[in-house]
Amino acid sequence: MNIGIIGAGNIGGTLGKIWASKGHTVIYGVRNPLTPKVQTILQETDHNATAMLVKEAAMRSDVIVLATPWEAVGEVVFQIVDLHGKILIDCTNPIKPNPEWPLAQGRSAAEEIANKLPGYRVVKAFNTLGAANLNDVIFGAIHADAFVCGDDLEAKKLTIQLAKEIGLEAVDVGTLRNAELLESLAKLWITLAYQQGIGPHIAFKLLQK
Ligand SMILES: NC(=O)c1ccc[n+]([C@@H]2O[C@H](COP(=O)([O-])OP(=O)(O)OC[C@H]3O[C@@H](n4cnc5c(N)ncnc54)[C@H](OP(=O)(O)O)[C@@H]3O)[C@@H](O)[C@H]2O)c1
Repeated sequence: MNIGIIGAGNIGGTLGKIWASKGHTVIYGVRNPLTPKVQTILQETDHNATAMLVKEAAMRSDVIVLATPWEAVGEVVFQIVDLHGKILIDCTNPIKPNPEWPLAQGRSAAEEIANKLPGYRVVKAFNTLGAANLNDVIFGAIHADAFVCGDDLEAKKLTIQLAKEIGLEAVDVGTLRNAELLESLAKLWITLAYQQGIGPHIAFKLLQK
């Protein structure tokens, strides 16, 4: 599958390297493909990964993964708005350094993105655990969970498949309306990891009897 990853940073670069190692073709969508940072990510990513400008990467991809800071989303959306029908996995969290949370309660980044991208099939996923954990998602004998929500069943199924390829177990959290919950879960993760001092090697797991 051609996976276009917009934002080749911590989370985008980590996801790209893992999925490339599973045989996918990764296309990073970036502002400047020639920067040393992008070239380094490319060297670290297997299977003929490439880097292109955002629009071109999105056009060539079967699925688009949005992995930029929230502040950049408006600019990215503007560039890809006319590519109707695409699946977009939103990994963003609408956060700035505390105490500023830019979205009011009851709103989510994923729904704002879906509203700005008519015809897109938007899924929220991969936002609830730190990027470094994706390289080793097993805690003891327990696989960390990927919490996934979205309105399109096919898009959600594909996202769950991509989560399983990382080694995560996937929890279907329902429609995109529930993205707010996943973004709150990310805030909890950040609070525990950094404000409570537990550190970033933590992940959430739904236990079930
Ligand atoms: N880090 C994590 O563990 C983690 C986990 C889950 C979710 N998230 C969320 O994922 C998003 C990315 O986080 P991150 O930690 O990966 O950030 P990061 O390391 O700072 O990487 C952000 C990437 O986005 C790119 N970017 C910025 N503005 C852009 C634009 N207008 N067009 C195209 N690319 C642009 C940056 O490229 P330049 O080099 O050109 O600036 C950089 O490659 C955030 O919303 C964050 O909340 C992060």
